[in-house]
Amino acid sequence: MITSELIKESQQYLMNTYARQPLVLVKGRGASVFDSEGREYLDFVCGVATCNLGHCNQHVVVALQKQAQRLMHVSNHFHIEPQISLAKSLVKNSFADKVFFCNSGAEAVEAAIKLSRRYSREVLKKDRYEIITMRGSFHGRTYGAVSATAQEKFHSGFEPMVPGFRFVPFNDIPGVEAAVNDKTCAILVEPVQGEGGVNIPSAGYLASLRRICDKHGLLLMFDEIQTGMGRCGSLFAYEQEGLCPDVMVLAKGLGNGFPIGALLATNPVADAFAPGAHGSTFGGNPLACATAVAALETLLEDGIIIQSVSRLGAHFLDRLGQLRKKYSFIKDVRGRGLLVGMELDIPGKDIVAACLKEGFLINCTADTVLRFMPPLIITEEEIDRLIDALDRIFSRR
Ligand SMILES: Cc1ncc(COP(=O)(O)O)c(C=O)c1O
Repeated sequence: MITSELIKESQQYLMNTYARQPLVLVKGRGASVFDSEGREYLDFVCGVATCNLGHCNQHVVVALQKQAQRLMHVSNHFHIEPQISLAKSLVKNSFADKVFFCNSGAEAVEAAIKLSRRYSREVLKKDRYEIITMRGSFHGRTYGAVSATAQEKFHSGFEPMVPGFRFVPFNDIPGVEAAVNDKTCAILVEPVQGEGGVNIPSAGYLASLRRICDKHGLLLMFDEIQTGMGRCGSLFAYEQEGLCPDVMVLAKGLGNGFPIGALLATNPVADAFAPGAHGSTFGGNPLACATAVAALETLLEDGIIIQSVSRLGAHFLDRLGQLRKKYSFIKDVRGRGLLVGMELDIPGKDIVAACLKEGFLINCTADTVLRFMPPLIITEEEIDRLIDALDRIFSRR
């Protein structure tokens, strides 16, 4: 079927929930994807910060194939080998003691919301349920996760939202202090806001949140769905802050493209979930876990990948900074590791479309922020090629 027919059928048969780019992607290799007409694109979206090892990493593909031939699904009524391996590896490499697996980021957030409320009631014996979240945050689309997301545009038409969330501006510590009351049980925050426009925490912000949580006996919950799995230059972004959360949620890069989500917590908190308290048919499914084990092994064993992220990110920011000096409509460039943003004072949509024509996939979030989240295996030379294309595009404006 030719591309225009595929797109027509896509529009006919799929609900209209995404503003899709006019191409059909059929193949991926490393940092490149290929469309149905054989054209190659350098991928700075990477499945929205998901295929961190690049497309079709061989170790990951072989692990998935092997597991598919062995056992695809059994349910959590039984112990599952790859699930145990993955949990063990996540625990060994993080602050956490225990893991709960699910299938997506929103589901992991959903589980964190439930765990924090239940911990307060069942373990602390306090009737507290409010969670403080930050303006500009994004936590997913299920009802709990979208209610936690402090952006009204995601609530529109879906009200009433789940009660029990208080919104405070990002980087506003006095605001958080003022929002804490005798019903507060947790603070949920992204260490770097992704969808909100690549918003970087000011120095000491996350440490201050840690102090507030300790002072009031609240859980500090990090949404590392976008920042985790090496994206920001360490396995988890919190490692760069000299502190640990009590709870963390992961998805995206965890499966390098295979759907999986995870909720991680320290022992006293994790203990709030007893049999029957929470669950998922597919959560921790053998295929997803075997794939994620291979992805995590590759990230950890080949430490070079994570180690190179900060260097590549610095190079990226440096080159974007040069463009900023040249074009007055560029307001800011910012990032951490390979989660990089360029804020414009014009809408970014046309720039994304122009990049596509030049053979580069990029993303725009919060209307005016170009967001770059390439696979962590991207090279300086490939980053330079994108910068040259942006320069050409900007010079035509
Ligand atoms: C920080 C953050 N949390 C949660 C989510 C939701 O994840 P999912 O789309 O897998 O439900 C996303 C997705 O973009 C995200 O970036």
